[in-house]
Formats: sequence, structure tokens, C-alpha cells
Amino acid sequence: MATQISFFQLNTGAKIPSVGLGTWQAPEGLVANAVAAAVKIGYRHIDCAQIYGNEKEIGSVLQKLFQDNVVKREDLWITSKLWCTDHAPEDVPAALDRTLRDLQLDYVDLYLIHWPVRMKKGSTGFTPENLVAPDLPGTWRAMEALFDSGKARAIGVSNFSSKKLADLLEVARVPPAVNQVECHPSWQQDKLHEFCKSKGVHLSGYSPLGSPGTTWLKSDVLQSPILKEIADKLGKTPAQVALRWGLQKGHSVLPKSTTESRIKENLDVSDWSIPEDLMAKFSKFDQARLLRGTFAANENYVYRTVEDLWDGEI
Ligand code: A2P
Repeated sequence: MATQISFFQLNTGAKIPSVGLGTWQAPEGLVANAVAAAVKIGYRHIDCAQIYGNEKEIGSVLQKLFQDNVVKREDLWITSKLWCTDHAPEDVPAALDRTLRDLQLDYVDLYLIHWPVRMKKGSTGFTPENLVAPDLPGTWRAMEALFDSGKARAIGVSNFSSKKLADLLEVARVPPAVNQVECHPSWQQDKLHEFCKSKGVHLSGYSPLGSPGTTWLKSDVLQSPILKEIADKLGKTPAQVALRWGLQKGHSVLPKSTTESRIKENLDVSDWSIPEDLMAKFSKFDQARLLRGTFAANENYVYRTVEDLWDGEI
């Protein structure tokens, strides 16, 4: 009998649904249909961010789903993220207010610092002139105030290395509940995951399929012969095997799709499991970070290299 793994419990006590619909690169015009299809199929977790540029459209479709009694607000898990231009403590509450206005919600279930990188207020584009040294403890205090206010029922970070997370934990009054990072069979994050577990921080995996649609990332995770072999043995698709692997490792997974058949396929990962002998085969995957964050590294910035950005976890 397969373990369901339908949610993970956070250090706040809340239960985050284990599979969330990713919305990065889900274009306006398509994202509403994707969210509606996902919720009707049974998704209860939508992963958003202000910088994705589609929160207004998601807000409209959520309203419609509530009005049509398809789902209740309290049964949904909505995550959003603070963009790099809003790290100044005085800008943090306004950024969440904007997201709440766009999403037409009173609160988000989880609000994350999107990157440990700060940009000038109002700037666009990661040009070296736009980068400003982050003050993560200062930004975190403003996040804690949002948690206290109830507008963010849990707070966390994204794209944090073990070291950055450790440094934050040293000063945090409210410990981060989640670190959302790239995680898939070709970037398994074992060290970071062990550290997160030891500190009670849940690891949530973005690009769990290796982001096959992002042409500039040159991803071939879903083409892996190892994944194909396991998928064939289990009568599942490579995408389902990649997602189920993540769940069995203890991550929540955030597959993005705007295609209804794939949205459905990606949720069908709970009434079967990958046996131990096949789980062992994942150790054969070559490891390489896809989203290296080169945009946030240059010799005049606090992160002179991508090694600095990830504190060597690259
Ligand atoms: P699409 O949105 O056209 O369905 P990730 O979540 O790792 O970033 O991957 C997202 C990409 O993977 C998108 O290009 C998406 O395409 C594609 N995708 C999502 N689900 C599947 C699936 N089950 N099989 C193959 N490709 C998928």
C-alpha cells in the first residue's frame, strides 16, 4: 500500500499540500485556465510570486472559484514571494499588500523572500547598477511583522544556501518555515535538505521536472534514461517518477504546467510509490544546478561569483 504523502507539516503546525501548481512562466491568458483546471482536478496549493506578472489573473480566477463554490479559501494553500526590489523593511508590507490586492485575498498561507539578493526599489532587470547589498536580517524582521499581522500565515525564504539559512536562523525571532529551492533528480540538494531537516525548515522544490520548457536552461532531466527505465517499470511517466521521487525524499514539489492533461498527470503521484531498489538508482544522476543565478553575481557586488551566492553549494 503506497503512502499518500498528501501534505507536509511546517514548523508553524500548518500542513502544506505536497503538490503545488507552479506558475512561473505561466503566461497571462493561460494561467487562469491552468489554475481553474488544477483546482477542479484536486490541487489545493498554488505557488505564485509578484515577479511572475500573473497574480492579477490568478486573483480573478480564484474569486470565481470561490463564488462558484468549487473550493473554499481556507482549503487552498497560496504562496507568494517578495521581489528583490522590495527588500527595504518599509517596502515589505506594501509589497505584500499589492500581492494580496492582486490575488484578491486577505492573507497568503506562505510568503517567501524570493532571493537573497536586493535590487534598487522600482528597478527592473538584473543589471549590475540595480544590485544593492542585501540586509537579510532587516528584511526578515519586516517579514516577521507580516507573520504577526496574520497577513502571512507562514514566512520563509527561497534560493537560500545552508549558510544563508543558518545565518538567518541565528537572528530570527520567527524561524523560516520553508526554503524553496531548485530540486529535481539532477539537482538533489542532499546537503541542504539534511540541514533544513535538522532545523525544522521544510524544503519545497521548484523546477521539479528540471524546467524542460525553459530553453535557456538546457535541461534534459525528463529525457534521462534512468528516469525512463524506472517509469517503464512502474507504468508511469518520467514526470510522475520525478515528482514522486521528490515526495518520497520529503520535499513538496511545484510542477508548472498550463496543459490540462499534464496538470492532471502531475497530481497522480499518491496511490503508488517507487520501491527502495528503484529509489537507489537516483544516486546515479549527474548533479548540476540549472538556475545558477549568474544575474546576481559580479565582481562589484557582494556576491562576486555564483559560488558566493550559493556559498559553494553549486
Ligand atoms: P507545459 O506548461 O506546456 O505543460 P518545471 O515545473 O520543472 O519548471 O517544468 C515546467 C515545464 O515542464 C513546462 O514547460 C511544462 O510544460 C512542462 N511539463 C509540465 N508537466 C509535464 C509533464 N507531465 N510531462 C512533460 N512536461 C511537462
